[in-house]
Amino acid sequence: MRLQSCPSECRVSRDFHNNPFDEGTNVKLGLFRDYVREWLPVWLSRSVPGVPITIADFFAGPGSDCKGNPGSPLITLEEVRKSALLIEQRRAQVRLLLNEAAKGKAATLRRTMNSQNVPSQLCEYEVTSLDFEKAFDKVCPNLRNGPTLLILDQQGMKALSPSSCPCYQGRLECRWSMDPRSLHRCSPSRALVSP
Ligand SMILES: C[S@@+](CC[C@H](N)C(=O)[O-])C[C@H]1O[C@@H](n2cnc3c(N)ncnc32)[C@H](O)[C@@H]1O
Repeated sequence: MRLQSCPSECRVSRDFHNNPFDEGTNVKLGLFRDYVREWLPVWLSRSVPGVPITIADFFAGPGSDCKGNPGSPLITLEEVRKSALLIEQRRAQVRLLLNEAAKGKAATLRRTMNSQNVPSQLCEYEVTSLDFEKAFDKVCPNLRNGPTLLILDQQGMKALSPSSCPCYQGRLECRWSMDPRSLHRCSPSRALVSP
């Protein structure tokens, strides 16, 4: 791969995560963080023991950019840590389902998550390396088992439709996308987010 010169220690390559996140990505990730920060305590405060709260990130990346700036999985984990007290008080069960199709990135993400020393009482996580549609099919049957935040990117939004996914219709009560062309908001009991 041909690399261009770059003022930072990171060189510009075609892969998103081999470069530092750009300004637009940082803004999107900031909005994503704010969203998770609001969403999680709402559902934790209503949580019932035995009913998990699930956050599924279908396009998770390796965890960070080439400079170690946190991507969506680590941002989610940081926000989960901020809610540790509430998780303990409510005896809530938080699950992070992290999927990344590229095997190398998924392996990096697994290592990164393992290095975070996440207490199992705080949350349980699983890293898979599946194509989006397969990963979504795995999660789909469990959409009724508690509050679920589905994190998609534009490809995921395009792939999902009521006709392509039988569980989509009637189950997703909120659809929220960073793309203003497909911005819809409604009751936030379940959210579909595209960071
Ligand atoms: C824009 S990046 C995701 C950024 C990530 N949310 C973060 O904050 O670092 C999109 C990621 O989706 C992965 N990807 C692309 N197509 C995919 C697919 N069909 N299924 C699952 N992952 C896919 C890419 O390898 C890439 O790492």
